[in-house]
Amino acid sequence: MRHAPLLLLLVGLGAPGCSDAKDSGRRFVVGFSQSTLEDPWRVAMVEAAKAEARNHPRLELRIADGGNDNQKQASDVDNFAVQGVDLLIISPREAEPLTPAVERIHRKGTPVIVLDREIAGDAYTCFIGASNLEIGREAGKFIAERLGGKGRIVEIEGIPGATPTQERRGGMHEAIAGHPGLEVVLAQPGDYKRGPAQTIMENALQAHPRIDCVYAHNDEMAIGAWQAAEAAGRAQGIVFVGVDGQKEALRLIVEGKLHATFVYPTCGKEAVQAAARILEGQPVEKRIRLKTAAITGANAKGMYDPKAPF
Ligand code: FRU
Repeated sequence: MRHAPLLLLLVGLGAPGCSDAKDSGRRFVVGFSQSTLEDPWRVAMVEAAKAEARNHPRLELRIADGGNDNQKQASDVDNFAVQGVDLLIISPREAEPLTPAVERIHRKGTPVIVLDREIAGDAYTCFIGASNLEIGREAGKFIAERLGGKGRIVEIEGIPGATPTQERRGGMHEAIAGHPGLEVVLAQPGDYKRGPAQTIMENALQAHPRIDCVYAHNDEMAIGAWQAAEAAGRAQGIVFVGVDGQKEALRLIVEGKLHATFVYPTCGKEAVQAAARILEGQPVEKRIRLKTAAITGANAKGMYDPKAPF
């Protein structure tokens, strides 16, 4: 009997996944390491996660903003490890630089859910995201069709070491490879941000008297490029293609200014749902693939909701 209090304590701290923990009404702390909160897509991801967490009152979500800085984000992950969070959700800025910190916390036995951008290796419990290769291919097909297989393309890329950048680039190049008349005349990283994309486009317009298409790896950069072209009086004959399906891009497609985007779900809601399942000891698949969809002038109007948060 002398050991009873210790025994109770052990049950109370039951490992995530054991049914005692489920029945004890115990609370779980989930650390959410977001790479940056500088752009609307990532803010929407966090908001979706918070909204879903309200359906799981036993989950406490702690959010860390990585400030678009690999080192800062890695130390956020290490801090969560020190705090002893029950589960880590991470959307890593770049794969290689974030992998060691993710491996450290995973090695301690903490379940890890990776969102939208991959880490290197497989030190995680579950990855959630849509196929960026498919998005790249669909974008390439759209461009080839729209340009009739001939034209000069400016590609504004995302952060170089982020896996969506590599896959959005790879898929698009694969899709246009069969069209020798299509040429990527300039490819430059715009950090997934509007401002740098604007500058890249200003320079591209100076260097290239003819540009037929801008393929930007997200909508923020497509919008930045369009703004630069509009200011230079050259937006008219250029086809602008982005990725994400954000509200502002949809509005510009409805207005005929941008031409296509591909939905990239933020995964925030699905991440919290998966976290709850893992912490309750239920199985989750190692890879959860979310759907994407093409939005063009043909269907943008039906999908545009001016009241949507994102
Ligand atoms: C936001 C973002 C999205 C993009 C995703 C790729 O930071 O650039 O626009 O779809 O990250 O990881």
